[in-house]
Amino acid sequence: MKTKTPICDFAKQYAERKYARFHMPGHKGRALLGSEPYDITEITGADSLYEARGIIAESERNAAALYGTGATFYSAEGSSQCIRAMLYLSSLVAANKGCKPLIAATRNAHKVFALTAALLDMDVIWLNGDVRASLCECSLSPERLDEALAELKRLPDAVFITSPDYLGNIADVKGLAETAHRYGCLLICDNAHGAYLKFLDDKCHPMDVGADMCCDSAHKTLPCLTGGAYLHIGKNAPQRLKDNAADALAMFGSTSPSYLILQSLDKVNGMLIDGYAAKIKQTAERVKRLKNELTEYGYTLVGSEPLKITVNAKRYGYDGRELAKILADGNVIAEYFDADFTVLMVSAENDESDLNALERALKDLPKKPPLKQPSFDVNPACAMTMKQALTADAETVDVTKALGRVLACPTVSCPPAVPVLYGGELINEQAVETFLYYGITEVKVVK
Ligand SMILES: Cc1ncc(COP(=O)(O)O)c(C=O)c1O
Repeated sequence: MKTKTPICDFAKQYAERKYARFHMPGHKGRALLGSEPYDITEITGADSLYEARGIIAESERNAAALYGTGATFYSAEGSSQCIRAMLYLSSLVAANKGCKPLIAATRNAHKVFALTAALLDMDVIWLNGDVRASLCECSLSPERLDEALAELKRLPDAVFITSPDYLGNIADVKGLAETAHRYGCLLICDNAHGAYLKFLDDKCHPMDVGADMCCDSAHKTLPCLTGGAYLHIGKNAPQRLKDNAADALAMFGSTSPSYLILQSLDKVNGMLIDGYAAKIKQTAERVKRLKNELTEYGYTLVGSEPLKITVNAKRYGYDGRELAKILADGNVIAEYFDADFTVLMVSAENDESDLNALERALKDLPKKPPLKQPSFDVNPACAMTMKQALTADAETVDVTKALGRVLACPTVSCPPAVPVLYGGELINEQAVETFLYYGITEVKVVK
């Protein structure tokens, strides 16, 4: 029988029967933290994530219908796992042509992209947008992509973009997809921050505007447990992507995916089927009003993502880290902060009192003269492939002693996990300055 939440229903019934569990996990359903009764494994009837034919397949079909995709697959290990799978799927296109995989990517790609490209020995062409006010952004326009692709001797198998980025900038995914397709390339979008975009009136989710594949971290913006994510394949994407997606995810995932996370993804479907989208839209409206208020008050906000409030702290006279600390002292905890920006992520689960607390905390702060902001144009030379760099003998050195050395692997913490340099690139003066600016004092370099 079809239900809105087949995985949750199964786990609930199983928990209620209080079976003697002679299977994993070792807690046997005893409520130690509280959720253990529902934490099951691939027992009869529970289906199996990467060979889904039963309740998981049904739940994934529910998600595919909600997102209007050709197919949707669950990840219990975040968008990170989906990015690895998408790169593997892209490399199948190259294998078809008998070539080494080649991918073009914007320079704000998450470090998982770089590490996976290295492991799969993919060649990467870096795409640059305008001069960047932050490592997190890379405003690539369709025209700039067109120019970049037109100059290439060999076209990449895919173009990989990050939209929204950590600051809430949304790219022209439609224009970028059309451009990539004109050159016969796939358009892959890291939409880790944009699962909720599907449920707004303005259709800007990558699956609505022509991306072939995208990943959404459900856990970042929907009421889902950490780790829950979707790998979406577009309706018009090559069939081969859909046929190989589950195997691709399996290649990079645990053989014991968390059923709690799968239930959480399943529960979100049920909520969306029951009208949760209206709550997301209302929250977006409320955030729009708050953003207008803050702008009138004198704050400079960046990015167009409806549920992200990114304060350009320096324009208001504060270091972004200092602003985040002041907010934290007032009980308001930001998602991310660096010297320039303080990023606050809102979801439909933030209530009026949360938003009021944020507004009060920001309005309590006096505006000061703006602080100077740098721009980033690292422009490194490449000395070896990412794979060569990642597998070379390496050592960790102080950044101040790293000038002229070759980076072995990206040194960056999460958030925002956007590297200053990627593996194989030569560390130049701008890179040293940028590392230090972002508080990175040690790097791993090739010996
Ligand atoms: C842009 C971007 N892509 C991918 C990821 C990885 O997502 P997940 O934490 O769901 O694995 C992140 C995580 O912060 C991210 O910011």
